[in-house]
Amino acid sequence: MPYYRSLGEVPRKRHTQFRRPDGGLYAEELMGQEGFSSDSSLLYHRHAPTAIVAAEAYTPPAWSRQPNRPLKPRHLVTHKLDTTGADAVLGRQHLLANDDVRLSYVVADTPSPLYRNAVGDECLYVEAGAARIETTFGVLDAVAGDYVLIPTSVIFRVVPTGDAPVRLFVIEASGHIGPPKRFLSVRGQFLEHAPYCERDIRGPHELIHVDAADVDVLVQHRRGWTRHTYARHPFDVVGWDGMQYPWIFSIHDYEPITGRIHQPPPAHQTFQGPNFVICSFVPRKVDYHPLAIPVPYNHHNVDSDEVLFYTGGNYEARRGSGIGQGSISLHPSGFTHGPQPGAAERSIGAEYFDELAVMVDTFRPLDLCEPALAVEDENYAWTWNRQP
Ligand SMILES: [Fe+2]
Repeated sequence: MPYYRSLGEVPRKRHTQFRRPDGGLYAEELMGQEGFSSDSSLLYHRHAPTAIVAAEAYTPPAWSRQPNRPLKPRHLVTHKLDTTGADAVLGRQHLLANDDVRLSYVVADTPSPLYRNAVGDECLYVEAGAARIETTFGVLDAVAGDYVLIPTSVIFRVVPTGDAPVRLFVIEASGHIGPPKRFLSVRGQFLEHAPYCERDIRGPHELIHVDAADVDVLVQHRRGWTRHTYARHPFDVVGWDGMQYPWIFSIHDYEPITGRIHQPPPAHQTFQGPNFVICSFVPRKVDYHPLAIPVPYNHHNVDSDEVLFYTGGNYEARRGSGIGQGSISLHPSGFTHGPQPGAAERSIGAEYFDELAVMVDTFRPLDLCEPALAVEDENYAWTWNRQP
């Protein structure tokens, strides 16, 4: 996690007596990564966080997956997936997946159930709308352009706020997501060359206390899903401190790195996860060498599948491809991709690109899930074969 935070009341010394107004002890809980050997937080609950009264196997919505064969670049039109009555957990429509990461899209207009992802961290990117993210660590308010990072096993729910549904591009990892290591000092401080820093990070701002009994929490775990019924509501924390908590970083706070000639995607990296990276393409001044070609050159990243979620602006390099707001492109390993015909010539002399996109590069191949195939633009693969 980015750095140490504390919210609410905690005892002066860890693992010592900390008492409720009625004289009983608060229940201390450590949530930590890698056993006891990495970042962690200590939470203080009014009730035992261990007390469950029922456990039941649960079957979530599921879709079939198939390999990208025949191998093709793909264009998925996510706005054809619009639904009503969906929530931000069970309404996720899975699009692309491998054992490291699952990408989905959801249009949510109802509150989600309480949910815990015990498989890995989640990154919820807000395309549009707004939501209140309620967690055991407190409340976060998410708006368009926010990346909401939920560490593994944090119990939370998503409550859409605002007049329109909240649109989320969801990245579920099989491990931890965080800032790239090269942006951080050995003690975890953001370095001067990093495109964002501690001041850009928003943590939970208000603890929630819900006094209720027999509360269901859906748990996605390494062997499927289970519904746990807790004796007391898990939102009963009076304070916590540590390095492990949900947080938000807005894509609009990403400071792009530019150059005299084209900067490749690693210059735009925002997060890293196990066997994938997340990058942000934001409005920026472009290349200022007198002979520069601002759009990217054709490229073949032989070790990765490249996913782009187009979330705003105007993607000059893709004009003529059908790509628009809410589109997802998949450019797989084994295929060379690049700008649309004519885009390189057209871009010469441009000084500014007004584009907003989230990129996920995976190091293992992505399968196509059923909803992806339902909204695929099947002509996309042939769009480079046109005269400018
Ligand atoms: Fe690319």
